[in-house]
Amino acid sequence: MLYLKDIDVSGKKALIRVDYNVPLDGTRVTDDTRIRESLPTLRHILEKGGAAVICCHLGQPKGEVKPEFSLAPVAAHLAGMLGMSVPLAADCVGPDVRAKVDALKGGEVLMLENLRFHKAETSKDAAERTAFAKELVAGLDLYVSDAFGVSHRPNASVTEAPLAAPKACAGFLMEKEWLYLNGALKSPKRPFVAVSGGSKVSSKLGILKNLLGKVDHLIIGGAMANTFRLAQGIDMGDSLVEKDLLDEAKAILDSAADMRTHIHLPVDFVLAKEFKADKAEVASHTGAVPAGLMALDIGPKSIIAFAHTLKGAGTVVWNGPMGAFENPAFAAGSIGMAKAIVECGALSIVGGGDTDAVVHAAHLGDKFSFISTGGGSFLEFLEGKELPGFKALEDAARK
Ligand code: 3PG
Repeated sequence: MLYLKDIDVSGKKALIRVDYNVPLDGTRVTDDTRIRESLPTLRHILEKGGAAVICCHLGQPKGEVKPEFSLAPVAAHLAGMLGMSVPLAADCVGPDVRAKVDALKGGEVLMLENLRFHKAETSKDAAERTAFAKELVAGLDLYVSDAFGVSHRPNASVTEAPLAAPKACAGFLMEKEWLYLNGALKSPKRPFVAVSGGSKVSSKLGILKNLLGKVDHLIIGGAMANTFRLAQGIDMGDSLVEKDLLDEAKAILDSAADMRTHIHLPVDFVLAKEFKADKAEVASHTGAVPAGLMALDIGPKSIIAFAHTLKGAGTVVWNGPMGAFENPAFAAGSIGMAKAIVECGALSIVGGGDTDAVVHAAHLGDKFSFISTGGGSFLEFLEGKELPGFKALEDAARK
């Protein structure tokens, strides 16, 4: 793979694929983490005398021009962050865009409109994607990817554009994601602990199976743990469980020992009658959960036990909250886990939607070694899948 730091960008026009698929409240960006994380790449290119043509998607307009998916609010937000004008082209390809690209000078920025206004961006037909990618890179000298968040999608701007461009490289954010994630999973400092939470075993099955044998300890929390506890024969009352996955859960518990991974489940739970309860009915409950009550968070004894498992860890990878943390009454388990990971002093990597929200809610964002900008891409990486966005950069480097 080529890296931006090794390329002379002076006088070059670069197409930079970023993932600014950020939450909007009408016309305002409500979380600009992904934009902020791309700034080192943008500033480097501009300061070295390159021109930056930024492209990305927003939402799923499904190949149609829909004004509510315009990148105008994102361009305005980026302009504020960069302290310079960020004009937004009305489209991402075509003669008008080409004229704007040709007129662009070193140190200037142009943002292209939502890539997904074109069906070809997400087309299943590789030839269609290739033709679109060729149009995207027309007049440009270099393709730079800083779009880790979308690197699991075989989209034209992710997989075909690197090969269509004269040269392609990973920007600073993409490089960081690659080094942390690949390094953690391929050559982790041990003991290696994975913390997996969230509500459904079904959505984490691939991750759990991939991590068995790779990690020394696997801590399972969130509503997922209910299914595992039931698989061990402990009644979980009215808690969320996936009964159709009890055999899978048993198989994971049985095979873990042979694969030298110790699985740790919560030893107590916070119980309430419903998700929207404003306080817990039982603050720490061990054993079978009575009918009419649900486990909505891991309890204080579990936090202590998990913190003990984390002591002395070399590497920790965390995905998924420990409970229904959106409700403050059931957030203590997730926040306690965030604190325990930070306090254990290991190299700590967090990723995947809700988990970074927990870390930020706990005001511990700057205490983790690395917070991935990936949601689905982070999960697919943990599942052991090859991410097409990385493969394309590697293929382009061999071209
Ligand atoms: C994300 O936000 O996870 C990425 O931008 C991918 O978006 P998508 O799920 O709409 O492809």
